[in-house]
Amino acid sequence: MKLPRAIAAAAAAAFLCQSALLCQSAVVGMSPALAQQPAPAYQPQSGQEGKDVVWIPTHQALVDRMLDMAQLRPDDYLVDLGSGDGRTVITAARRGVRALGIEYNPDLVKLSTAAAETEGVADRASFVQADIFESDFSDATVVTLFLLPTLNMKLRPTILAMKPGTRVVSNTFDMGDWKADQTIESADADCSNFCRAYKWIVPARAEGTWRLGDGELRLKQRFQMLEGTLRQGGQEMAIGEARMNGTQIAFTAGDRQFTGTVEGGRMAGTSRTPQGSQAWSAARSAP
Ligand SMILES: C[S@@+](CC[C@H](N)C(=O)[O-])C[C@H]1O[C@@H](n2cnc3c(N)ncnc32)[C@H](O)[C@@H]1O
Repeated sequence: MKLPRAIAAAAAAAFLCQSALLCQSAVVGMSPALAQQPAPAYQPQSGQEGKDVVWIPTHQALVDRMLDMAQLRPDDYLVDLGSGDGRTVITAARRGVRALGIEYNPDLVKLSTAAAETEGVADRASFVQADIFESDFSDATVVTLFLLPTLNMKLRPTILAMKPGTRVVSNTFDMGDWKADQTIESADADCSNFCRAYKWIVPARAEGTWRLGDGELRLKQRFQMLEGTLRQGGQEMAIGEARMNGTQIAFTAGDRQFTGTVEGGRMAGTSRTPQGSQAWSAARSAP
C-alpha cells in the first residue's frame, strides 16, 4: 500500500529540505514578500529525540502487515502508543477503523492531526499529546507499538489486564517471556531495519480448579499457555495442547479434544472424539 498522501508529501518536502541550514539559506535569499510567508511545515527527522524513545517511523509496508496481523474488524478501536507521524492510526482509519494516536511530541501530534484531515479520515483518526505511561487506553481492542523492549515490559502488566481478546502488535520488540502468538518478517525489499512484527492476544484467565461434569479440571496458566490435569471416572490424566486464544480455550485429555469459551467463572464448548462430539461446560470451584 502507498504511504498516506499527506505523509508522502511531508517526506518529499523533507527530502528537498534536508537540513535546517539549507532551508535557512534559501530563506535568506528571498524577496521581503516571500520571506514573510509562513515558516516551512515541521519536518520530523528519523532518529530525533523522543521522551522515552526516539522517533523512527515504521516502514509503511510493515504498517500494512501489522494491521493485517491485527485482523481489524469494523468495531475495533486501535490505539498506537507513541504514534509519531500518525501513519499507523491513519492507515487503520483508512481501513474504516476508529483509531487514536498517543504521542508526547506536540509537533508530531499537530503533523498527524493535519495529515488525518488531508487524508479525509479525521472523523475516525485522532491524536492526543500525552505520555503513554500516564494514559488510559484500556478501551482499545487493538494496541500497536514501536517502542523498546524495556518499555514493552513496563507496559506488559497494563496490557495483560486489558479485555481478553485484545490484539497487541509490536514492531521489532517483544514482550520478554510472553511468547508471541504470531511473528512475521516484512518481505518488502525496501525494508532494511525494523522489519519484524509480533502479535499477542490478551488471554482470558483460566487458571484454577473447575468442576467439569462429574470431573475436575485443574489448570495452571502462564500467559496464553496452560497445563494441568483432568480427573474423571476415578482416572486422572494430564491435559495436552492446552492454550488460550483470547477467550477461546483448547486442550486435549486422552482422545478427547476440548474447545470452548471462557467467561469469568464459567466455560463451555464442544468436546470431540473419533466417535463423535458433545457439549461440555465447567464452573470454577477454586481460584
Ligand atoms: C519509534 S517511534 C514510533 C512511531 C510510530 N508508532 C510508528 O510506528 O511509526 C516512537 C514514538 O514514541 C514517542 N514517544 C516516546 N516516548 C513517549 C511517551 N512516554 N509517551 C508518548 N509518546 C512517546 C516518540 O516521540 C516517537 O514518536
